[in-house]
Amino acid sequence: MNDTTQSIQWFPGHMAKTRRKIKVILPLIDAVAEVVDARIPQSSRNPEIKELIEGKPHIILLNKCDMADKTVTEQWISYYKKQGIIAIAVDCKSGKGLSLFKDSVKTALADKLEAYKQKGMIGKPLRVMVVGIPNVGKSSFINKIAGKTRAKVENRPGVTRGNQWFTIDKQLELLDTPGVLWPKFEDKAVGERLAFTGAVKDRILDTELLAMRLLEILSEKYRDLLVSRFGELDFECDSYDLLCQVGKKRGMVIRGGETDTERAANMLLEEYRNCKIGLISLESVDENA
Ligand code: G4P
Repeated sequence: MNDTTQSIQWFPGHMAKTRRKIKVILPLIDAVAEVVDARIPQSSRNPEIKELIEGKPHIILLNKCDMADKTVTEQWISYYKKQGIIAIAVDCKSGKGLSLFKDSVKTALADKLEAYKQKGMIGKPLRVMVVGIPNVGKSSFINKIAGKTRAKVENRPGVTRGNQWFTIDKQLELLDTPGVLWPKFEDKAVGERLAFTGAVKDRILDTELLAMRLLEILSEKYRDLLVSRFGELDFECDSYDLLCQVGKKRGMVIRGGETDTERAANMLLEEYRNCKIGLISLESVDENA
């Protein structure tokens, strides 16, 4: 049998360049705001991020929290807190949760702010680098937090031309990721999860296999939501049969009474991505312990 992620075309060549750019920029920034997808907080991270930021204070934005399971998101927040990382749940489409961001930066940089105060350097803006793999919502975050007052600041001394600095207010400046940070390419489960959420495009994947994998996960974690959405299902079967059942429930039947599994797969993935099945998190803290 084929593998769902066998044909994903990754683009790993750029990481060395990004690594270099981040190294240059690190001395100029005070903290890092990492945007991740709350539905898959681990898979939507760059695996090298910890080393790349070399111990800079770190805030995690669990974005797209409007699409994730609230209880699971809260568990992730506690999980990161235990590691000394401030995490907040945000929805950068509506702006929900973003009011916590500035205070989170101040909390993460409390020591630095105190030192500034001692030296009479009140008013020196804090500089935060926003990082994240493609599609997690970095641009949405910057647009939302910068709002109409957004002003681009460029050509700082020592900063490569083209770096995207944004003045948020007198106290805060943001820098967009200098380069592209990729997810953990080599891990098939990571590729699948990114594909479920739509971060990796379907056309490079086998849609039916992807939908079958999603059904496996949903029937384990969110069986009740599947039943509410599609009606009674027999779970004592393999994921192909389950996909057939789901398709049949929607009348996706072709000649001979067989299910049109391609249509069923597309429907399932589309309904998952649009949260029609429910608010679902595909990665939980206990799997990560
Ligand atoms: P990036 O810079 O990290 O690559 O991500 P970007 O902001 O472009 O966001 C990627 C997609 O995710 C966009 O959807 C964006 O609207 C959506 N998005 C970002 N944050 C949130 C969020 O908190 N909740 C929800 N539900 N969606 C979010 P798109 O389909 O590419 O574009 P569009 O729908 O805005 O037209």
